[in-house]
Amino acid sequence: MKQLPVIFKCSHHRKGNSDLAADLFLKGIRSAGGDAEIITLGDMDFEHCIGCLKCRTAADNRCIFADKDGAQELYEKIISAPFTFFASPIYFYHLPSRLKTFIDRGQWAFEAMTGNSPVMDGLKSRPAYTCLLAGRPKGEKLFEGAELSLKFFLRFFKAELQPAVVFRGIDEPQDLGNDAEKCALITASGKEAWQRNMNNG
Ligand SMILES: Cc1cc2nc3c(=O)[nH]c(=O)nc-3n(C[C@H](O)[C@H](O)[C@H](O)COP(=O)(O)O)c2cc1C
Repeated sequence: MKQLPVIFKCSHHRKGNSDLAADLFLKGIRSAGGDAEIITLGDMDFEHCIGCLKCRTAADNRCIFADKDGAQELYEKIISAPFTFFASPIYFYHLPSRLKTFIDRGQWAFEAMTGNSPVMDGLKSRPAYTCLLAGRPKGEKLFEGAELSLKFFLRFFKAELQPAVVFRGIDEPQDLGNDAEKCALITASGKEAWQRNMNNG
């Protein structure tokens, strides 16, 4: 069976705006006849990268914490997924700390990529999508740090971040659900992602 796309729920708060964005993206995928796996990353705790750089020289660039938590399994999902989707709130102009810790732990993949790992070299480029939600109604740079971190992290895995869908002024947990237009846009982007990436073989 073909590998399913993976949707990451990255808020630390369940049943809020990011969870809904993830569910709507999945709804869009399903409306196109597809399916996806949901990972609730916002509930997962990871060891922190300690900058030991052992991954620079380890076999397969393996992190010293690879067997200590679920991070490695998730990197492998990103590697094999035809596309990924990250739904995340903005916390202090950036990504929530669990997602950021997961990103930092991805340093092994940077080492693998720059060290010409056969696994990474053999990967085909695949798209990654994101919906970022912020409470503040204004702020030119509200999403800048989050988008940059996601983009360069995902690039280690040859996943190319597409322009982010960003929504300002979404603060209370029910705000996204009350905005039919935004909901429809996310559903449509899930449908389009499936049709674009999965319907041709
Ligand atoms: C710890 C924390 C930090 C936040 N920092 C920001 C921020 O810097 N800018 C902003 O616009 N909203 C900020 N917010 C508001 C959230 O981005 C907003 O409420 C979002 O819709 C929450 O998404 P969720 O329902 O998926 O958890 C913050 C919320 C929390 C809990």
